[in-house]
Amino acid sequence: TWTTGSVIDEQVALIREQVGDRRAICGLSGGVDSAVAAALVQRAIGSQLTCVYVDHGLMRKGETEQVEKDFVAATGVQLKVVDAEERFLTALKGVSDPEEKRKIIGREFIRVFEQAQAEIIADEGPAVEFLVQGTLYPDVVESGGGTGTANIKSHHNVGGLPEDLEFQLVEPLRKLFKDEVRMVGQELGLPEEIVQRQPFPGPGLGIRIVGEVTKERLDLLREADAIAREELTAAGLDREIWQCPVVLLADVRSVGVQGDGRTYGHPIVLRPVSSEDAMTADWSRLPYEVLARISTRITNEVTDVNRVVLDVTSKPPGTIEWE
Ligand code: XMP
Repeated sequence: TWTTGSVIDEQVALIREQVGDRRAICGLSGGVDSAVAAALVQRAIGSQLTCVYVDHGLMRKGETEQVEKDFVAATGVQLKVVDAEERFLTALKGVSDPEEKRKIIGREFIRVFEQAQAEIIADEGPAVEFLVQGTLYPDVVESGGGTGTANIKSHHNVGGLPEDLEFQLVEPLRKLFKDEVRMVGQELGLPEEIVQRQPFPGPGLGIRIVGEVTKERLDLLREADAIAREELTAAGLDREIWQCPVVLLADVRSVGVQGDGRTYGHPIVLRPVSSEDAMTADWSRLPYEVLARISTRITNEVTDVNRVVLDVTSKPPGTIEWE
């Protein structure tokens, strides 16, 4: 019978057998899959694993700290964090086109990751021959079931990998579905915020600012997003909602009034959706009181935002993200 305990024991044994006394690298994205894969491999081979986290500056409030502090505390994993915010912001300067943003973020990510990888390989120690990936069963099916090579969906995995991959892959989640991965993560003692995390795009908040991405806009959006997430969690709605992008319309301004003054600020869009697999989605019928609280808090607490609007479009025709 299937138990998380037996899955963990079986995978730990297999990973030990595969890796032996060599070393492995794993890229952490902040998401569930890479976190659980890394935790499993860490349990199997300990310090023979090094994780890499590229901080591109496009994460939501508190997420980088979650990886750097909570994940490390829970697993004891050896982690290399690369602070690349400047680099990403410089590369994104003046860019408004969504696909252009994705390309730039993907390209910079690979460069930074490869650099970190080269540094790890250059360290003293046994050969680094393995790359850990959080491939799930649905990914395996979708990609035709092959193994041993890097088979990455370019669009949906900006946390992606170098093309000229010479590593052997370690994929301990290949037989699991998402909910099983969450159970394994929980059993491994990972923080709740990581285990229950909703889908979040690799390019992060970079594709939730309609317009150019700047530090100021990111900070503003991070605040609005944190408020929305806080209120949705407080209302107990996390399990009902597939995800809720919070989008800043940076190139739009509208007139408002605050105190006895006129304001001319930006709108924030709430995009709560329900979905099974993100291929199709419906807009979530959130309780009005929750929407009201989010709206009041965002307009009061986030400077330069004077309007909150709700996206009531299903997918299709709308996508889940605005970019
Ligand atoms: P759309 O907007 O296409 O999103 O309806 C479907 C799902 O994919 C996520 N998404 C991305 N994930 N890199 C990612 O890793 C991306 O460039 C990207 N674009 C969209 C989106 O959050 C949703 O879960």
